[in-house]
Amino acid sequence: AQRTPLIAGNWKMNLDHLQAVAFVQKLHWALKDAKHEFDTVDVSVFPPFTDLRSVQTLLDADKIPFGLGAQDLSIHDSGAYTGEVSGVFLKRLDVRSVIIGHSERREYHAETDEVVAAKVQAALRHELVPVICVGETAEDLERHGASAVPVGQLEAALAGVPASADVVVAYEPVWAIGSGQAATPEQAQEVCAKLRDVVRAALGDDAAARTRILYGGSVKAANIASFMRQPDVDGALVGGASLLVDEFASIIRFRK
Ligand code: G3H
Repeated sequence: AQRTPLIAGNWKMNLDHLQAVAFVQKLHWALKDAKHEFDTVDVSVFPPFTDLRSVQTLLDADKIPFGLGAQDLSIHDSGAYTGEVSGVFLKRLDVRSVIIGHSERREYHAETDEVVAAKVQAALRHELVPVICVGETAEDLERHGASAVPVGQLEAALAGVPASADVVVAYEPVWAIGSGQAATPEQAQEVCAKLRDVVRAALGDDAAARTRILYGGSVKAANIASFMRQPDVDGALVGGASLLVDEFASIIRFRK
C-alpha cells in the first residue's frame, strides 16, 4: 500500500505562542526556499495548548500546508474538570490530530492503558486522529525484549476502535527519547511490523494497509532516511530536532 509519509514535530513544553508563530513562519520559508514539494510528505506540528490559536491563525492566513495537532486531550467533553482541555475545543480550532499516551504522560501523569484507551475514544468522538504512542523502557527491553510492551499497549489502545477509524501509531522506545541513542532502523522495523500485525488483528487488513506507523526517539536529519527505508516505518515523531528550523526542514526533506 502507498502511505504518504508523515513527519510530526512534538514540541513538548517548548515555545510560547509568539515563538511558535515565528518558528512556523521560518520553517515554511526554509521549505519554500529549498523548493520542497509539499504534497510528497505530510507535516504536522504539535505545539502546547496555549499556542494552538495563534498557530492556527497563521496556518490559515498564510495557507501553510502543515497539519495542526495537540499533545493531549481530556477523556471528557465538558464539565467540572479543572485544567483539562476537551476534544470539542480542539476540533473548533481546526486541530486534526492529538498525541495520546506519550511516554512522558504515562510516566509523569500516571496514564494507564485504560486512560489511553479512553483518550483514543475521546479523540475519535470528535474526528481527531489519535497519534497513539507506545514503547518499551530500557528495563522492559531487558526483561521482555523490544516488542512485548508496545504490542500490549497498542492492543489496549485499539480495543473498541472501529475498523474504519483513522489512527496513527508512534513507536517510541523510551530509552531512545531525548537520549541521542536512536534505535537501529532494523530494531524499529521489527517492532513496527509487529505493531502493524496488531492493527490488522484489531481493525482488519484495510486498516493495516493504510495506517501510518511512525518511529520516534532521537530522530534527526542524519538518520531519518535510514528509518524511512524500512517497509513498516511511515514517518517520524520528532521531539528535540523539531525545535530547530533547519534540522526539522532537512528531516521533512529526507530522501530515501
Ligand atoms: O514525541 C517525540 C519523542 O518523544 C522523541 O523525542 O526526538 O527528542 O528523542 P526526541
